[in-house]
Order: sequence, then structure tokens, then C-alpha cells
Amino acid sequence: MVYHSGFGHTSTLADAVATGARDGGADVTVIHVETMSDEHWDLLDNVDAMIFGCPTYMGNVSAGFQAFAEKTGRRCMDGTWRDKVAAGFTNSGGKSGDKLNTLSSLVVFAAQHHMHWVNLGLRTGWNHSFSSEDDLNRLGFFLGAGAQTNVDANPDQVHPSDVRTCHHLGQRVALVTRQLNIGRTFSPAASAPAAS
Ligand SMILES: Cc1cc2nc3c(=O)[nH]c(=O)nc-3n(C[C@H](O)[C@H](O)[C@H](O)COP(=O)(O)O)c2cc1C
Repeated sequence: MVYHSGFGHTSTLADAVATGARDGGADVTVIHVETMSDEHWDLLDNVDAMIFGCPTYMGNVSAGFQAFAEKTGRRCMDGTWRDKVAAGFTNSGGKSGDKLNTLSSLVVFAAQHHMHWVNLGLRTGWNHSFSSEDDLNRLGFFLGAGAQTNVDANPDQVHPSDVRTCHHLGQRVALVTRQLNIGRTFSPAASAPAAS
């Protein structure tokens, strides 16, 4: 789990994703991008899956997360993270807040690394007369988990539905990664084709 949070809201969601992945059987390390060490970089080079998270700032990934992304340029060129599993989540103050743009940026980041993106895998919640904001995936995202936190809320006031949705994402990534790993014992990942 690699994430950025400026004011703690996204940290609460990162914890939920991590708990979900652990409940799914994964060994999880949670890394805030501002505390990255050499050991963390080594760890990332050797994990099976990464889940990226950040708040939406100015309709896109936060600068803190993007600074991390830009530090991965050499790894991107070398294909160091090729065929690892990836997924993501974001959080914003607005109900929409242009979060889809942030998730799309995370997908592109993963694709540039030739990683396999795992979507949220939940149908849209809160879209019937009888449904409510307590539904899983209450904001109806598909690419990843999208959360909304009032800008004057404390980190422990993140919406419970968003916490459960993030927990689901972590669990799903653990399951997909395990399935992929089992498959690779029979059919290993192909090496990168030459550019020419
Ligand atoms: C610089 C900045 C830009 C922001 N831009 C957006 C935005 O584009 N859309 C939105 O809905 N909320 C926006 N917000 C609100 C944050 O997404 C929201 O407060 C979020 O919960 C912050 O998460 P954090 O505590 O993990 O940093 C912005 C906040 C900041 C500080």
C-alpha cells in the first residue's frame, strides 16, 4: 500500500484497504509516500501487488502522490514493476470532486508500469428509492474505491460506507493476486518483448 494524505482522511481509508487485504490473506506494508525509505523501495520492487491511494487535489492525484510517481521513472523504463497487480482509491471533499480523473490517473500510472489493474468489483450503491448512503460503493465507482469526506471532518469521521468499500477493495486485490500467483505456478509471466 502506497498512499499520500495531507490531512489524515485518506490515511483512514488506507488503513481500511490494508485491513481488507490482510483479511484476504495478504502480508501488507502501509507506506506513506512522505516516509519512503530505501527499504520501502526495495520492498515495492519485490511485492506481488501495490494499492495506490491519494486524496483528490485540484481534480487530480495530490502533488505528494505525483512526486512519488515521478520518482518511479527509472523503474518504469526498466519494467521493474511489470505484471505486478495494481489497484487504487481516492477521497475528496466534493461528492464527485472530479475523483474519476484521479482514479484514471492512477490507472494510467499503473499501465505505464505494465501492471495489471484490479477494478472495484462492486455494483453501484445508493441508486434506488430504497437504498441509502450506507450502501457499499455509495458513490458508484468502478475503476477503484472513491470516497468523500467533508472538508471540516476529522480523520475518524470518514464515512463508514467508504471505509467498508475500501476494505472490500483490499480484500479483492488479495484474492486476485493469490489467483494470479497460483496461475503463474503453471504458466509464468512472459518477459517483456523487445521494442524492436
Ligand atoms: C489543495 C487542495 C485541493 C483540493 N481539491 C479538491 C478537488 O478538486 N475536489 C474535491 O472534491 N475536493 C478537493 N479538496 C478536498 C480534499 O480532497 C479533501 O479535503 C480530502 O478529504 C483531503 O484528504 P486528506 O485529508 O487525505 O488530505 C482539495 C483539498 C486541497 C487541500
